[in-house]
Amino acid sequence: MRILITGASGLLGLNLALETTHRHTVFGTVHRHALKTSPFTVIQTNLLAPGAVERLLEQTQPDWVIHCAALANLDACETDPLLAKQLNTELPHTLASLVARGGARLLHVSTDSVFDGLRGNYSEEDAPSPVGVYTRTKLEGELAVAKADPTAIVARVNLFGWSLTGKRSLAEFFFNNLSQGKQVMGFTDVFFCPLLANHLADIFVHMLEKNLSGLYHVVSPEGLSKYEFGLRLARRFNLDSSLINPTSVYDSGLKASRSPNLTLRCDKLTRTLGEPIPRLSTGLDRLYTLYQQGYPQMLRSLEPS
Ligand SMILES: NC(=O)c1ccc[n+]([C@@H]2O[C@H](COP(=O)([O-])OP(=O)(O)OC[C@H]3O[C@@H](n4cnc5c(N)ncnc54)[C@H](OP(=O)(O)O)[C@@H]3O)[C@@H](O)[C@H]2O)c1
Repeated sequence: MRILITGASGLLGLNLALETTHRHTVFGTVHRHALKTSPFTVIQTNLLAPGAVERLLEQTQPDWVIHCAALANLDACETDPLLAKQLNTELPHTLASLVARGGARLLHVSTDSVFDGLRGNYSEEDAPSPVGVYTRTKLEGELAVAKADPTAIVARVNLFGWSLTGKRSLAEFFFNNLSQGKQVMGFTDVFFCPLLANHLADIFVHMLEKNLSGLYHVVSPEGLSKYEFGLRLARRFNLDSSLINPTSVYDSGLKASRSPNLTLRCDKLTRTLGEPIPRLSTGLDRLYTLYQQGYPQMLRSLEPS
């Protein structure tokens, strides 16, 4: 398959491009983070520039587009709601319309946080009720994609992993601080179902191969608090878990509103794929193996100095 991945310098897009490039022809877009070298074809573009999406599709002629580019920083979305709307709502709409018209297929990446997090254990049937600019613009993006291209896959995710900058994911936050002996907060009242980005990549490819359509929760079957996540990571990496201070998110001083229970059910996807989605222990084992293999340093070496 020819696969175009937008946001290939981001946490998800980069891992996805690296995991898929061995078996498929992969094109990955970057914007401000150019890559020095990479095993896939890198295209530097501002996807918001007039005509950029048309040119990209013309140049790459993809069978599938996996749209990971977004304004995914909650506080940045609160500070610049117009940019959040352009990137998280209008761009997915443009992409879905053009991809459908050109005969390709789209997997659009959305988020677990389209829910308000008051209840948890949400299925695809539950009505979203987003809190804050990021989640509102992401939900509007989902709806715009489904309207422009009903055959598109919309995947709600939550992920962790190694990133280009080494600072992008919650796993890196705990790893970096604990390895330097620094104390950190761990939220005891924010729950989620994080999946390793590399596992997410394998599942996405499986979803494309099965030609799926529609809305799927693509998360780990295991919900836990961010505090517990830190403890489990510390144990796996043999780091000092007592440096993680159990804290309520309401005492943390964060600017954007956080949703307490964003655990999602993934049984629709498990049934459809006919195989279980990896649990956190499997994700942490692979994160550790990647670390031992020098994967974080390899990612860092892709960044121009
Ligand atoms: N991280 C999570 O835990 C999480 C949780 C739930 C959902 N998600 C969703 O997963 C997807 C990927 O998230 P992520 O964490 O990988 O995001 P990320 O690390 O912040 O990466 C965002 C990507 O978007 C690109 N981008 C931003 N503005 C652009 C523009 N104008 N033109 C072209 N590219 C642009 C960035 O390129 P440059 O860096 O090169 O500028 C980068 O590659 C998003 O849809 C996000 O909403 C993520």
